[in-house]
Amino acid sequence: MTKLAVFASGTGSNYDAIIHAIQQGELEAEVALLVCDQPEAKVIEKAKANGTETFVFEPKQYPNKQAFETEIVEQLKQREAEWIILAGYMRLVGATLLNAFEGRMINIHPSLLPSFPGLDAIGQAFEAGVKVSGVTIHYVDAGMDTGKIIAQDVVKIHKDMSKADLQAAIQRVEHQLYPATIQKLITGGE
Ligand code: GAR
Repeated sequence: MTKLAVFASGTGSNYDAIIHAIQQGELEAEVALLVCDQPEAKVIEKAKANGTETFVFEPKQYPNKQAFETEIVEQLKQREAEWIILAGYMRLVGATLLNAFEGRMINIHPSLLPSFPGLDAIGQAFEAGVKVSGVTIHYVDAGMDTGKIIAQDVVKIHKDMSKADLQAAIQRVEHQLYPATIQKLITGGE
């Protein structure tokens, strides 16, 4: 069974979707570790409820990014994690993690990259008045949402949609596309 480490900072709906796909037999993997940089994040309760091991840390308690990433890499090695799945991890990955996992680290972003990288991509698209947005899954490199694109799916923005409607529509797509894309990757299909 391929061992995944899921990194998250917030609600964890994508973490949940991954767990659900594993339980349904649609994703042949296990989540060996949840890594979270926000001790109050909702995703931590979800991980505990599912029996997923967690590594929760506070970046400000470390002298720099290299120090906490070195500890993360150690935790990943202990669990023999093969892939890093960023699922709402709201932090730029540094050289320490990239050197250890480049090519085996992917991210999901709630826009059609290269449009609307960075924070609040859904709000950026909504404010721009674009007629389509969507979801991108890409390999992680040193940039902000810049790595090689693996999969995308489109969400149409209708004129009567609120920002909350758009967010819900994008998340519905994310929850299908992420587990399916991970399954293809780990079975050599992408
Ligand atoms: C997701 O919509 C994900 O695409 C986004 O954060 C949300 C996390 O939701 N990621 C980014 O914006 C990365 N730049 P979740 O915690 O419910 O999975």
